[in-house]
Amino acid sequence: MAGIINNNEAGNIPRHIAIILDGNGRWAKKRGLPRNAGHLAGSETFRNIATYCKNIGVEYLTVYAFSTENWKRSEEEVGGIMRLLDKYLREAIRDMRKKEIRMSVFGDTSRLSPELQKLIAETNEISGSIEGFQANICINYGGRAEIVRAAEQYARDLAEGRAEGKLTEERFSDYMYSAGVPDPDLLIRPGGEQRLSNFLLWQCAYSEFYFTDVLWPDFDEAELDRAIAAFNMRDRRFGGVKK
Ligand code: FPP
Repeated sequence: MAGIINNNEAGNIPRHIAIILDGNGRWAKKRGLPRNAGHLAGSETFRNIATYCKNIGVEYLTVYAFSTENWKRSEEEVGGIMRLLDKYLREAIRDMRKKEIRMSVFGDTSRLSPELQKLIAETNEISGSIEGFQANICINYGGRAEIVRAAEQYARDLAEGRAEGKLTEERFSDYMYSAGVPDPDLLIRPGGEQRLSNFLLWQCAYSEFYFTDVLWPDFDEAELDRAIAAFNMRDRRFGGVKK
């Protein structure tokens, strides 16, 4: 079902939405299909939801596609996800200028194949010449690892005279993969689990969380509308007191 949000009834559109893509495996199992069929369906859902986000005025969409823990899955499943990412990035390189979608990959890409690393570098380069909506895909990403990496880089910059001695939250944010990207306003987890699973630990300090049992491949525009409607009912005080 198509989403119903238009600019008159939108309420507040979150500037940045983060989503944990969960439930692909169960979606496939329910249909007697291999797990990778669920990931394929999940990547198509990502494409639809990214387009919808752009159309309703979301500025940033960040998705958790592959965690540092996901290497524990079977070789077949990991290989299938990597092939999907390869296909997705190639299509993005072809279409992102026309669709005006910037892309960024968050995570330790050094463990990915040289081909994937090359495709990521290419999407980064193209993104530099595009303005507007940005999709961030987290691959080989872990929130704690991101914070440790940021601390190491800051320490190096400090030792080599490139950083000031007084570290602030703002300055430290610049060492995250998400440097320059505002924190997520809304974090969505489909698939029925209600946990963060090491996703955007630093960035989600004040995000509103929305959980749904819908499995990611079944997540559609109407579901996103529901998440945004729930977000608009929240009272965001950022630790302050309501005026
Ligand atoms: C979690 O569902 C999903 C993943 C670990 C992989 C997500 C990857 C993709 C959708 C493919 C590529 C992505 C993009 C953005 C192009 P699960 O397998 O843990 O589901 P389950 O909990 O039902 O087993």
